[in-house]
Amino acid sequence: MTVPDLGTHYLGFHLAHPVVPSASPITGDIDSLHRLVEAGAPAVVLPSLFEEQVENDALALHHGLEFGAGTFGEATDGYLPDFEDYNTGPDSYLDLAAKAASELGVPVIASLNGASPGGWTRYARRLEDTGVGALELNIYFMATEASETAADVERRCLSLVEDVREAIDVPIAVKIGPYFSSVPAVAQRFAAAGADGLVLFNRFYQPDIDLETMDVVPDLVLSSPHEMRLALQWIAVLYGAVDTSLAATTGIHTGTDVVKMVLAGADVTMMASALLKRGPGALTEAVTGLNDWLAERDYTSVAQAKGSLSRQAAPDPGRYERTNYMQTLVTYSTDWKRRAGGQLR
Ligand SMILES: Cc1cc2nc3c(=O)[nH]c(=O)nc-3n(C[C@H](O)[C@H](O)[C@H](O)COP(=O)(O)O)c2cc1C
Repeated sequence: MTVPDLGTHYLGFHLAHPVVPSASPITGDIDSLHRLVEAGAPAVVLPSLFEEQVENDALALHHGLEFGAGTFGEATDGYLPDFEDYNTGPDSYLDLAAKAASELGVPVIASLNGASPGGWTRYARRLEDTGVGALELNIYFMATEASETAADVERRCLSLVEDVREAIDVPIAVKIGPYFSSVPAVAQRFAAAGADGLVLFNRFYQPDIDLETMDVVPDLVLSSPHEMRLALQWIAVLYGAVDTSLAATTGIHTGTDVVKMVLAGADVTMMASALLKRGPGALTEAVTGLNDWLAERDYTSVAQAKGSLSRQAAPDPGRYERTNYMQTLVTYSTDWKRRAGGQLR
């Protein structure tokens, strides 16, 4: 059987394979980072440093589960989370980044979630100074003001990337959400603004309403594999259409998920929920799954498989477009009627 070359390139780094731990508490301390590297992680993304965390070290949230809370409007009114159990403040974050960069022997990607234009660049420089290999800008922004148009939101996101690009030299990945009117247009503009990679997509956490306390409450539910379809679709569309590395995040739990993302065109896939649920072994299993799938089908490399089912290369590119919409509905209806036939009579 062929032994496939699993190597891939991401943000200019050559990685042994495309399964990378995403930003989450499991990448937030040096011991678990070492365990991830022992399990085969070819690079790691640290949890985000939040600007609010730097500005006010004594703020409070529940176990990092509301990691985007600082970007909600309430933040300005003093509703701010406690980062203590998530990562332990800016100094220890910078220490962690420096330690990881010097000890791990794989590229370390620090992550930044800024709040003010000056904040993004200031902390990007501080993070670069720790010796990390690259920076991921975690743009977790909810447009809640009707006065702010789509163009305003895009301009804001693009100018922060331009500002950070000017301020630092290491490669920059931009982690975005899916809520843009035209993902390909905005992706190209991020590339033009200086992004070396796009991470698709940030998973926005939706709060719940507690009917006992009559309050809005944070409720983080870890992902399940079917959630990967959104990123799968857009990576397939962007492959070959945007001049950046492409990373897939959300719903990557197994080797099968990794294979699908690679076929769509991802340079790397990122895991958080699977690692939080099953530990570093989930990464090793996913790499084995990828290897076995390729070997069984005589692929010589990840590079050979990459993008072969992207929109531009798929035998039926319409599968990624509106032409597939009616067909999906018709197929479902036909199957449903066949299955439900007995009950409907
Ligand atoms: C508890 C938790 C904390 C997270 N913290 C961060 C963070 O600090 N920065 C970030 O960019 N993403 C963060 N994420 C998002 C993950 O990196 C990932 O993009 C998301 O969970 C989807 O991937 P998954 O389906 O593998 O979980 C966090 C996710 C979880 C579950």
